[in-house]
Amino acid sequence: MSIGVFDSGVGGLTVFKSIADRFKTVDIYYVGDTARVPYGNKSRDTIVKYSLELTEFLVKSFAVDLVVVACNTASSYALDFLKNRYNIPIIGVVEPGCIAAINATKNGKIGVIGTQATINSNSYANTLSALTGGGVRVYQKGCPLLVPLVEEGKIEHPVTKIILKEYLDGIVSEGIDTLILGCTHYPVLKDVINSIYPELNLVDSSVAIIDYIHKLNLDLNEKGLRNLFVTDESVSFENLKKLIIGDIPTFKVNLDSIELK
Ligand code: DGL
Repeated sequence: MSIGVFDSGVGGLTVFKSIADRFKTVDIYYVGDTARVPYGNKSRDTIVKYSLELTEFLVKSFAVDLVVVACNTASSYALDFLKNRYNIPIIGVVEPGCIAAINATKNGKIGVIGTQATINSNSYANTLSALTGGGVRVYQKGCPLLVPLVEEGKIEHPVTKIILKEYLDGIVSEGIDTLILGCTHYPVLKDVINSIYPELNLVDSSVAIIDYIHKLNLDLNEKGLRNLFVTDESVSFENLKKLIIGDIPTFKVNLDSIELK
């Protein structure tokens, strides 16, 4: 059995790493849509179309048994569509992140940060409310500058700290005790966020998703192959890949061959 993972680009490698570390013998196929990233400022229709194309690529080319939508933006807009379309399990990162946040919060005040599209979708706020019957207060903030900063490798940079404070001071002052990192790139910023706001519980969906995979009870014994594909060659993909998972080779898949006309 094998797991397919897709993302708009490199950030989903945080999810890939978490799965690869936990399920050492499973075969994992990852595709990052580096030709069309970012998804975080695109419309619902476009995000659903791209997500469908990447899922088709994983299912048709490798007959994966499970698809993990590592991208928060794609999880927010395309998960239900994909679940209805395929008869294999498709899991996204929103619900696992919400469950982990509900388990972590003591005062019921949860912050959510993500791309503007993820925040506009209200996916986290709606899921948190549905899971708790409205029992938690949710404070959301779109943080569009964080993805480019991470892609530029500006992780510990003073500019990143200033931008983080600009985005987070408002919701932190509302008294949140838990913050959902609702974007693939944000786990890379965990230490920096922690250094500014040491009192916050940070919820990383790439960790939360592992329980979900366990619950599926799949027979995950395989050769432990790690296969990475991108839709375009990208220097920032290669640089961040090395930071997140080390030097696994990347193969290019032609966008023409996955586009559904
Ligand atoms: N992967 C996206 C997410 O998790 C971030 C990058 C993008 O905007 O495509 O929302």
